[in-house]
Amino acid sequence: MSRVEPVVSVLLDPTHAATSLVEDVRRGLRAHPLRLPPKWLYDDEGSRLFDEITRLPEYYPTRAERAILEEYADEIVAACDATTLVELGSGTSEKTLLLLDAFTRAEQLRRFVPVDVSEGTLRAAAVSLSERYPGLAVEAVVGDFTLHLGRLPRGDRRMIAFLGSTIGNFYVEERGAFLGVLGDSLEPGEWLLLGTDLVKEADRLVAAYDDAAGVTEAFVRNMLRVLNRELGADFDPDGFSYAPMWDGRMERMDLRLRAEMPQQVRIPGAGLDLDLPVGEELHIEISTKFRLEGIAAELDAAGFDVVRTCTDPDGDFAVTLARRR
Ligand code: AVJ
Repeated sequence: MSRVEPVVSVLLDPTHAATSLVEDVRRGLRAHPLRLPPKWLYDDEGSRLFDEITRLPEYYPTRAERAILEEYADEIVAACDATTLVELGSGTSEKTLLLLDAFTRAEQLRRFVPVDVSEGTLRAAAVSLSERYPGLAVEAVVGDFTLHLGRLPRGDRRMIAFLGSTIGNFYVEERGAFLGVLGDSLEPGEWLLLGTDLVKEADRLVAAYDDAAGVTEAFVRNMLRVLNRELGADFDPDGFSYAPMWDGRMERMDLRLRAEMPQQVRIPGAGLDLDLPVGEELHIEISTKFRLEGIAAELDAAGFDVVRTCTDPDGDFAVTLARRR
């Protein structure tokens, strides 16, 4: 089969990142509690640190999800009739190779649509995927999956893969809205493959987000460096402690930075000045953990029927195949 040249469509205009960072920071830091959206953690340094997190002994989700795909990718492919795979937040599409290999064995896939905000990563991935899968049409989309679900390529029977439990980083109301838009953007009979981390003992959860080597702490602190660089802010990263905690009521990890001294912070790029008393917390990221019944109920509310739920032997993580009604 001949190699098909990858196509890359850019839906993000170059000024988008800058303006939406300013809007997010204004909105998040004018409200109380002070919140910063976790998507801004992933600059080059943040992406490198996240990659390191996925290899930490304490951080089980990446390995658990990979084990599930190793075990069940062929069954998942056999259980659906998708001919286009769309991956949201694909990055280097590393775990997706397991799915793509299974689709290739079944000779079922025509097209792969990786969607990511990082144009450089996406272009490199698009080229290497076209080489690895001759005959597969790679149509990469540089876009933000919280904004551009309505503009994904249509036609064919699509499967949207949203892996890594990234859905857990949305607050509950955002999550419902996101799943609703996802459902609305698919035709009846199209597919969703959703990766979700599951509720488990608090000590393992806390360890996964408070690793001994301090990589997660550095990852969360990197938010302040992003604001200092992009918005000319003068956060003193050493003035904050890392405060990860398990919120058992909401069933989520809550990652915060806590001011350890009173601080005056100027954020010229967002036109903000902050007066932070000791103990003031910046809410950087939540990572919600799920139960199988809850996942099915939320998918049902968004117009999906669960067709298959796959978990790893320890029951740490789930990958759910659902079909749009
Ligand atoms: C983005 C969902 C893969 O919430 O576990 C890891 C991000 N933050 N450690 C997660 C994260 C701190 C991660 N995911």
